[in-house]
Amino acid sequence: MASALPDSLPEVASHFPDRPQFSGFMKPGRVEGEVANLEVLGKIPEEIDGTFYRVMPDPQFPPFIQDDPWFNGDGNISAFRVKDGRVSFKQRYVRTEKFTRERDAQRALLGKYRNKFTDAVEFKVRTTANTNVVHFNGKLLALKEDAPPYALDPETLETIGLHTFDGQLPSMTFTAHPKFDPETGEMICFGYEAKGDGTPDICYYRIAADGTFLETVWLVSPVVAMIHDFAVTENWVVFPLMPQVCDIERMKAGGEHWQWSPETPFYIGVLPRVGAKPSDIKFFKYPNCFPSHTSNAYEDASGNIVFDLGLSEKNVFFWWPDAQGNAPAPESLHSQLTRFTIDPRATDLELGAAHVQALDTNNSEFYRVDDRFATKSYRHVYFDLMRPELGTDFPAIGPVLGGGYPLYNSLGHLDLETGKTDVYFPGRTHMVQEPVFIPRRGSKVEGDGYLLALVNNYASLTSELHLLDTKDFTKALAVISLPLKLRAGLHGNWVDAV
Ligand SMILES: [Fe+2]
Repeated sequence: MASALPDSLPEVASHFPDRPQFSGFMKPGRVEGEVANLEVLGKIPEEIDGTFYRVMPDPQFPPFIQDDPWFNGDGNISAFRVKDGRVSFKQRYVRTEKFTRERDAQRALLGKYRNKFTDAVEFKVRTTANTNVVHFNGKLLALKEDAPPYALDPETLETIGLHTFDGQLPSMTFTAHPKFDPETGEMICFGYEAKGDGTPDICYYRIAADGTFLETVWLVSPVVAMIHDFAVTENWVVFPLMPQVCDIERMKAGGEHWQWSPETPFYIGVLPRVGAKPSDIKFFKYPNCFPSHTSNAYEDASGNIVFDLGLSEKNVFFWWPDAQGNAPAPESLHSQLTRFTIDPRATDLELGAAHVQALDTNNSEFYRVDDRFATKSYRHVYFDLMRPELGTDFPAIGPVLGGGYPLYNSLGHLDLETGKTDVYFPGRTHMVQEPVFIPRRGSKVEGDGYLLALVNNYASLTSELHLLDTKDFTKALAVISLPLKLRAGLHGNWVDAV
């Protein structure tokens, strides 16, 4: 039954704000449904049998916060089932508490991104479950780092409910970027602000493939910072702390959860993966910068941690500026794939130029690997790239782009052994979303398989899936067309049919 609403609620408009994040291709789609037999140009290999799941923030109602960021939209899950050379599409919102109560009220009730003090009503759990979707122990888990997961049925996408692993989950939060051990299927996780908003507590935990909690370690962070992604090796876990910091008093005054902190270093927490005590955590320090997504991590022959991630000198989350309101112009942002080499036994915790190496100097993001090589020495990394010289028709797409500025116009494949990057350019009026890697059936060779990515077509204002064979990376094997557009999503995963 719907809860009673307060007598006075913040006013909402009957349309989305006239802002870049709600305009053009970024206009919320708000579609649930199914389309069988999507159009296929080219040929999908018959051996590909599985489902590509991804999630996008897609607000069901206009917000009462005018400059509400893209990250605050309701999680809408897309599933592309690939079988016998055909693709069918299904999409369904996660029935979070927020989604359900707003649908009952027929209006937005949630306030600012991760600020409960600005809500129109009190929520028990205010997550939007909009950041990642992973398959674990027979369920899909829709994730956002501010709450436990929501569990979904992998076939129907129906929401089962908030998932606390039968009450085993000790943390109030759960990362949107859990890692999986390719041998055991163990899920390695953490939550930050794990005892509630503004708390410095990090809760590290490992979950066996059958859902049993194996270990929990409580840690204290030197600063209440966003820890969006992390990395795992055979023996270590690595926590990159983004210098976006939280202040509960600012939140109580109606301000933002996050504020860029130019004086805060880039802390990298390093903890033994198994059997750690809270005091075992070491926080290494590197000069202030912005860590984005992880590619992979492993240990080299001398026991050093090799940690690969995107790194930008400037605040990529420019919509959360510093205390003086300073933020970089979005078109000036440049994130490049960077390798840190860290000795976890070191007593000197200062990191400098000697510890870092640029692996690819292009502007890139959303790094993916052959997940069978996660946590291990690896050779192949795939990612989104922005290379304006490839021929994107910026004047043509500008009026319908939405979002304010163009993100990534191509897919890259870096061979870490040769240092060579291959590029796939999907078209002059196209932009790409995050790719996923699909292993070729029967092959155990790293990187032998396919890459699949959702592509925005601004000429037709529809979405497409582009499928590449990694042996011939510069051409698409097949382009699969949707009769609708899917605005920018965050993350997704490929799940092979059993
Ligand atoms: Fe992410």
